[in-house]
Amino acid sequence: MARNENKILIIAGTGYIGSYMVKASIKLGHPTYVYSRPNSSKSELLNEFESMGAVIVKGELKDHEKLVSVLKEVDVVISAVAYPQVLDQLKIIEAIKVAGGIKRFLPSDFGCEEDKISVLPPFQAFLDKKKKIRRAVEAANIPYTFVSANCFGAYFINYLLRPYEQREEITVYGSGQTKAVLNFEEDIGIYTIKVATDPRACDRVVLYRPSTNIISQLELISLWEKKTGRTFKKIHVSEEEIATLSKTLPDPSNIPVSILHSVFIKGVTMNFDIGENDIEASVLYPDLKFTTVDELLDIFMYDPPKPAHAAFE
Ligand SMILES: NC(=O)c1ccc[n+]([C@@H]2O[C@H](COP(=O)([O-])OP(=O)(O)OC[C@H]3O[C@@H](n4cnc5c(N)ncnc54)[C@H](OP(=O)(O)O)[C@@H]3O)[C@@H](O)[C@H]2O)c1
Repeated sequence: MARNENKILIIAGTGYIGSYMVKASIKLGHPTYVYSRPNSSKSELLNEFESMGAVIVKGELKDHEKLVSVLKEVDVVISAVAYPQVLDQLKIIEAIKVAGGIKRFLPSDFGCEEDKISVLPPFQAFLDKKKKIRRAVEAANIPYTFVSANCFGAYFINYLLRPYEQREEITVYGSGQTKAVLNFEEDIGIYTIKVATDPRACDRVVLYRPSTNIISQLELISLWEKKTGRTFKKIHVSEEEIATLSKTLPDPSNIPVSILHSVFIKGVTMNFDIGENDIEASVLYPDLKFTTVDELLDIFMYDPPKPAHAAFE
């Protein structure tokens, strides 16, 4: 692979989605830097990144000088921090302002398109923090790309279908007919590195909504039944039950149920039109193909991706 000019820093690159971005950045030939805490528990993964050619920089988000010095070395910054650290990204924005010269910043979005939807209060509070970061990036005049990656495919297939458990039944949220967008994490990694360095995606929202990856829970179960030759009992959880749980569960356990409600009952990955200034990734890269949901289920048959930490338990 030819050396690619832009140097890319991935903050929280050891995380669930960050690790796909680090591998994609290396694969696409970018000099790749990973910012990771000195006390990170991910030393094996960091060693793997290093052996692939990445530069590991040890630091906390609050280490302003350290952050500024690494930012001076790179062109593009992708933050893949997790939910509890979303507002800490204000520290990244401050450091980018001081460093100067950053050609593009991608804050940790990578989910629903927060500027277009309205959801149950626990999830809304989470999205409001992400919106606050977007507004701070714009106010600081930092060139940006805001990525709406929609559902992480393997993550949600593991959660919905539980292929790693030998269950006879599958839980269906609501009627099961609402359409959602499921994208394979490896593709999210590749497309994110592509848009991060693409002038057409500068100061734009990019949505990953390929037509091949729009599917309802019932369609997903039916595809899985065909592939496995099994028939599952479907246990429906009503909209009211989920809405009640979102009110009664303590914070932050009320967030995952609110996400299930928003995505699989209200359809927030699909229930709005893509804005005229926004870009859909498969239109931007017609020659690059997203792994279809059908192909992703084939991967689950023969080499099942491991479940992420059980965020929805
Ligand atoms: N669309 C979807 O389906 C979906 C699903 C899940 C998540 N997401 C989104 O994806 C983004 C990343 O989430 P994720 O689940 O991939 O993250 P994650 O794996 O939970 O964490 C990312 C990294 O953050 C660092 N970290 C952990 N605790 C920290 C702390 N106290 N202070 C600073 N850094 C800390 C760790 O890196 P080090 O140990 O190396 O420092 C960790 O590897 C978020 O915006 C999230 O909302 C979307």
